[in-house]
Amino acid sequence: MAVIQTKIKPTSPLFLKNQQSMETLVSELQSNISKIKQGGGETAIARQKSKGKLPVRQRIESLIDDGNDILEIGQFAAWEVYEEEVPCAGVVAGIGKIHGIDCMIIANDPSVKGGTYYPLTVKKHLRAQSIAKKCHLPCLYLVDSGGANLPHQAEVFPDKEHFGRIFYNQARMSAQGIPQIAIVLGLCTAGGAYIPAMADVSIIVKQQGTIFLAGPPLVKAATGEVVTGEELGGADVHCKKSGVADYYAEDEKHALELARQAIKSANINHPSNRNEINNQSTDSTVQSSIAHSPPDQSSIAHSPPDQSSTVQSPIYNPEEMYGIVNSDLRLSFDIRELIARIVDGSEFDEFKALYGKTLVCGFAHLHGNPIGIVANNGILFSESSQKGAHFIELCAMRKIPLLFLQNVTGFMVGKKYEEEGIAKHGAKLVMAVACADVPKFTVVVGGSYGAGNYGMCGRAYDPTMMWMWPNARISVMGGPQAAGVMAQVQRDIKARKNEEWTEQQEADFKQPILDQYDTQGSPYYASARLWDDGIIDPKETRDIVGKALNSALRAPISDSKFGIFRM
Ligand code: COA
Repeated sequence: MAVIQTKIKPTSPLFLKNQQSMETLVSELQSNISKIKQGGGETAIARQKSKGKLPVRQRIESLIDDGNDILEIGQFAAWEVYEEEVPCAGVVAGIGKIHGIDCMIIANDPSVKGGTYYPLTVKKHLRAQSIAKKCHLPCLYLVDSGGANLPHQAEVFPDKEHFGRIFYNQARMSAQGIPQIAIVLGLCTAGGAYIPAMADVSIIVKQQGTIFLAGPPLVKAATGEVVTGEELGGADVHCKKSGVADYYAEDEKHALELARQAIKSANINHPSNRNEINNQSTDSTVQSSIAHSPPDQSSIAHSPPDQSSTVQSPIYNPEEMYGIVNSDLRLSFDIRELIARIVDGSEFDEFKALYGKTLVCGFAHLHGNPIGIVANNGILFSESSQKGAHFIELCAMRKIPLLFLQNVTGFMVGKKYEEEGIAKHGAKLVMAVACADVPKFTVVVGGSYGAGNYGMCGRAYDPTMMWMWPNARISVMGGPQAAGVMAQVQRDIKARKNEEWTEQQEADFKQPILDQYDTQGSPYYASARLWDDGIIDPKETRDIVGKALNSALRAPISDSKFGIFRM
């Protein structure tokens, strides 16, 4: 495969300016992430610790293999959305390895408003479950939550994608043979009680975890019965009398160790429980980690999976991507320069390199797995759209996952382009993206505007996972364009009524629209609402997409069936 030859000039003034601008954005990102990781703050965490509880991130660390991190989902969920701060939407979620097996971990953070479910907590929990379902990842629920956030009950309780969907998903995944394991580390009340009750395996911590349909105050109000939480639904009740829980843990560490054992006992590597064909690289990792792991000790000492592999890193420094992407999104850059810093060995087999040049398509490898890349190199024209549709069909037929690198202002507009059928050619790309049933990943590396977002596998096209870079912008169109459209409409209305509209009036009319687009186009605004799965440092793109790809390959890749391509 050909190696991409770089043409960048790292000493040029433009490169240095871009680099500085991206460094500022990345350092802002890192400081925001460290703030989020503090959860509900020192006082709340100290209260949890005084009850013998570990902070949520330490729980996760104890659960996963030593030396591993989770691939976090929705880190910025609820960021600056509610009046009060709700870091991580009160639930930490991500993919982590347990005995070398990728698992989805969904852990309430009791330091954030008692771990209660805001609307975005529910959305994040469901998002994590949907990734698990798609990728066949065992789910571990670290439960410690006051249940529905009561002031928000109307937005979390009754609708299809609300709280009840959590249990529906558990049931459906259990039916698919995807293990569902609940670890009850705190309160698990009302609807929340169904998380352990619906799980395949439930573990509960002595004198700490409780499961009940109504807590002591409600029981007293309803029936007059006076009972403590422990008497009503503690570990002794549920492990010895009711059978609602299966394993009795002496403390949190013991519970987490039992959860690791539950994954080990689930026979996940049996051929009928996993996809053997499409997962060679994960396979070897899993096999070797199982083979080399010492038997689990009672202390938490987990061997990391064997990392022996022959995967080649890119030959160029990924950090150079900081200087390649223009801080002024209106300026173009060659997307191949990013591909060269993401894929194995910087090797790229470019498809139709001389045709439809504003969309770069080609085959590469990522962490040893084949991947088809679809990347914007300018506005989408008819040729580039047809080329994209053709390439996506190829990948779907050959079961090759897809990576979309979005930097798109949209499809070309104007009389000439309408006459040549840009709408039907764009529709072909959208059809291909919608129906390609291979794992799809999307990274927004610049702008994501208009129908370009759709053709390039935006959120509505169900990418297995999707991320934004900190410089990214996302909206139906750019702010100046939206203000221009609205001003034109207003000008026509004024003219119709014979009313005067001065330049100053027009500028005053446009300003709030510009401000609104500026706020809403930010990656933080998007990620807070879970329009994507996170904001990432550009230089970590390869590692993050590579890990996600490995996880996605647990599930078999089905045949894709396309609808009618308008010719
Ligand atoms: N809805 C909204 N806010 C809630 C809440 C709920 N269900 N439960 C707790 N909170 C808030 C508290 O008001 C408090 O807010 P503040 O920090 O602004 O003061 C914060 O969460 C922490 O609550 P606190 O009781 O101080 O913490 P705790 O760790 O001692 O206990 C719970 C946490 C969840 C065990 C406890 O608050 C509780 O039992 N809540 C009621 C649970 C319930 O019955 N839910 C019904 C679900 S249908």
